[in-house]
Amino acid sequence: MTRFSFDLKATDGKARTGVIHTQRGDIRTPAFMPVGTAGTVKAMMPESVAATGADILLGNTYHLMLRPTAERVANMGGLHKFMNWDKPILTDSGGFQVMSLADLRKLNEDGVTFRSHVDGSKHYLTPERSMEIQKLLGSDIVMCFDECPALPADEKRVAESMRLSMRWAQRSRDAFGDRPGHALFGIQQGGVTEELRAESAEALQKIGFDGYAVGGLAVGEGQEAMFGVLEYAPDQLPADKPRYLMGVGKPDDIVGAVKRGIDMMDCVLPSRSGRTGQAWTRRGQVNIKNARHQDDPRPLDENCSCPACRNYSRAYLHHVFRAGEMISGMLLTWHNLHYYQEIMQGMRDAIAEQRFDAWEADFHAQRADGDI
Ligand code: GUN
Ligand code: ZN
Repeated sequence: MTRFSFDLKATDGKARTGVIHTQRGDIRTPAFMPVGTAGTVKAMMPESVAATGADILLGNTYHLMLRPTAERVANMGGLHKFMNWDKPILTDSGGFQVMSLADLRKLNEDGVTFRSHVDGSKHYLTPERSMEIQKLLGSDIVMCFDECPALPADEKRVAESMRLSMRWAQRSRDAFGDRPGHALFGIQQGGVTEELRAESAEALQKIGFDGYAVGGLAVGEGQEAMFGVLEYAPDQLPADKPRYLMGVGKPDDIVGAVKRGIDMMDCVLPSRSGRTGQAWTRRGQVNIKNARHQDDPRPLDENCSCPACRNYSRAYLHHVFRAGEMISGMLLTWHNLHYYQEIMQGMRDAIAEQRFDAWEADFHAQRADGDI
């Protein structure tokens, strides 16, 4: 069996490219992970997700424990078989989603009680139960159970929350045990305070993980503050392990994060905005609802090789969106995921060839030049 490992192949400035080896295949880094919250990347067949160039998906403990339940997924042979995706899956641990989605949350040292946003039923999550659920799902990369305060928050609250997450990280490590072929990632917290981030990074490294996430960002602090944290946070984490920035982001957030030493990211943005008529292209954002597209025979992006751009006009994409046809979400999601993966491939090649700065300058220049 392939043991989980990370090969750093090249660096260019702080940007890194490499390969994460897992028992379900390699993950080329920097990697973007499409979000398959409830056992599907919405509006996409798994083979289409793979065709965009994704090596790994993200799944959610919170959603799957409520519906269809982790036990049911396990009885069906695990999440990979259940959803027909045989490449790696990373699962988030649930704490973050409980705080943003569940009703009547109550948090104490042991864990969190909450009511389901689906049917109001009562549930309990602890580090131990989160590890058990992620094992039942068959996740390849398991995330520690943590708490993430919304920003801005006062520093005392952020410090207490971070220290609770570090105690939960130890309990997650103990409960995870030794599972060859599977990885456990720690999650750094500490808000926008460098000393708290350093304390968190040190606590995690003392416990020891297969990879390290930067958590607690993209929660309302803005890009400038996020990049501010990313000036130092990746350097506080081990260089020989993958670094994962959770829940990020827009194309320019992703490029800025890679420039600062991040290896993995996930975000609902390309798939969610595909369903609301927003396309992300190399020239910028296109709102396909806009009436100016209704007679436009051009594709979304002349230079894109995805099915939406190869085979359909903006006029058609506008029409199916306005008519509420399902193919609208399917085509725009495919395009957005394809574009995101093209950015990742562009960065991987540029870092390997030591021309990341030129690639980044070109990325920003293309977006600046006008009429889309
Ligand atoms: N997703 C985005 N941010 C976070 C975080 O801080 N923790 C977890 N578990 N998931 C996240
Ligand atoms: Zn396209």
